[in-house]
Amino acid sequence: MIPKLRPYYKQLKIYSVLCSLLSVLLSCNNTNKSITSTSVEPFNQTDNWVVLDKTNADQNGTTYSWDFKVNQSSDYVLQMVSNEATFKNNETVKLKLGEQSFETSLLNDYRINNNEIVSEFETIMPLQHTGKEHLSITTKADFKRLRFIPHFKQPIGSGKYHQEWLSMHQSKEKQEALNRFKEAKLGMFIHWGLYSQAGGMWKGTKINNAPHPGPKVAEWLMYAFQIPRTEYRELAKTFNPDQSFAQNVVKLAKDVGMKYIVITSKHHDGFALFDSNYSEFNMVDATPYKADIIKELYDACLAEGIDFGVYYSHGNDWMDGTDGNYANIKKTNDSLGIYTHPSGKNLWDPSDNTHKDYLQNKAYPQIKELLTMLPELRLIWFDGTGFTTEEQAFQFYKLVYDNNPNVLVNRRVGYAFGDYLDAGDNKIPSASETLEKYWETCGTTNNSWGYKSYDEDWKSPKELLYYFVDILSKGGNYLLNIGPDGTGHVPETSAQNLRAMGKWVHQNAEAVYGTSRWKTPNEGQEETLLDGTGHRASKGFQREFTSKDFWFTTKANKVYVISLSNTDGDILIKSLRKGEAEIEQVKRLGSDTTLSYTQNENGLQTTITNLPKDVLGYVIEVTLKNNYEN
Ligand code: GLC
Repeated sequence: MIPKLRPYYKQLKIYSVLCSLLSVLLSCNNTNKSITSTSVEPFNQTDNWVVLDKTNADQNGTTYSWDFKVNQSSDYVLQMVSNEATFKNNETVKLKLGEQSFETSLLNDYRINNNEIVSEFETIMPLQHTGKEHLSITTKADFKRLRFIPHFKQPIGSGKYHQEWLSMHQSKEKQEALNRFKEAKLGMFIHWGLYSQAGGMWKGTKINNAPHPGPKVAEWLMYAFQIPRTEYRELAKTFNPDQSFAQNVVKLAKDVGMKYIVITSKHHDGFALFDSNYSEFNMVDATPYKADIIKELYDACLAEGIDFGVYYSHGNDWMDGTDGNYANIKKTNDSLGIYTHPSGKNLWDPSDNTHKDYLQNKAYPQIKELLTMLPELRLIWFDGTGFTTEEQAFQFYKLVYDNNPNVLVNRRVGYAFGDYLDAGDNKIPSASETLEKYWETCGTTNNSWGYKSYDEDWKSPKELLYYFVDILSKGGNYLLNIGPDGTGHVPETSAQNLRAMGKWVHQNAEAVYGTSRWKTPNEGQEETLLDGTGHRASKGFQREFTSKDFWFTTKANKVYVISLSNTDGDILIKSLRKGEAEIEQVKRLGSDTTLSYTQNENGLQTTITNLPKDVLGYVIEVTLKNNYEN
């Protein structure tokens, strides 16, 4: 399957193309700021390029084809390099990669080597290391070569830290932590910080109409409006939330059945919600609140038996992270003739230090502070990778492990160093995808992570439950977000919807916690995939749930059959037909009586009666005679 582009990718791209052009004229990377440059980092992407020269192609008329292999499985982008003299914008190209065909028109995306034009195809192509690939292209365009380059979001590492990483990842402590995480299934994400006070508006303009491109989510306020650092800092002076924040949030998590909490201890804006000796831009030193709210939430979680994790933006720090190493990386990329995405870095008012200084003097020490201050911490959820190098990503992982091996690290620490994967923001993998590690989907309750006062597009309890059930049936975790406002208050509708979903979760807890994927994840209608924050925002959600749709989970000798319908009547569960499973007992969760049933080659048939009208759905617990072997 070839997925569509992430929606903001294009905007970033246009912006950076403009930047690259401007940089030629004006030196876009900060004309009047003197960033002390560090030496250019080694960048081994070229080992993983595939270059297909026109002269080596099999030619048939205007169709050229190649067989090739890739060194590493990853997402790639395809580029065409043409002569400037003969290049024509909008010339059509037909491509065939394996079984996939698509048609597109050429654009002058950027120039390399003074006289060559690069056109980048929009589709991201996942290529597998195993097996032979075949590409053919039909075009009248006068091109020189095609090249596959790893997508900028997935730099490929050299593998030199792999063994050391593996021994940490496979340690008893990590594996126990991972098992605990797998059982938890449902967590609460909290996006909260200085930006929450602004609610997605700056000086009367909504972030959606902000002059600069980037994600339209409220925590990207500083980036979207390119707010100078000194001006943004002022927001700390009025950040004085209600003292009941921690208690309220933990109560909500409990009500919903969430087993762990992950809060933004430092988001991309660089503001720490905890007490820090390494940056005064923190909750204790810079706000009238004057207390460490991360510690308060940690204590409240521990008191209620909820696992505690922190989000930490290690790659992006718009306050102290300078340009995130953009200028250095760009220098190297330019020499290789590849394009550099700004990846959400501060190019409008970068700090005067080097990126290495930021890592040494803020990011690494703050991670250590968190690990020391929170001995029962369970998870660090890194984010904002961008130009983090393989060595730096590894260092973050190792720093966590060396200080507390019980703490899990997510994929976004960079390269392949996560203890588990995430499917992407508001993304659920399809049932047919096989992932090589355990995974989590993080999701919003409207279309923003941080509080956006005017976003009323709340996902209904049913929609939220559908995503959760879908994730459960595919064997993952759901980390579901709240975006409290500047006072720490959780928007009423999101709290209500979460509680309504939570009612189902509590009633059907056996089908949730500690379960895993059954041999068949679901039956009935095709999957309605959640395909990113922007995708859901623009497409909305329409899906009817019928009494023929089922999702499955399993634990020991039980199979849980989940329905999101609330009507009484006969049902037929095809995946439990005779031969598939030997059944001992059938029962609906929440009722004491067993159900009578018949099982034949069409399925398991039973009758649902007396369903309360207000339920979001029900679960049939099927006890098998033998343990189901996964
Ligand atoms: C993205 C965004 C960020 C958000 C995160 C949640 O990386 O940059 O604002 O915190 O996704 O997963």
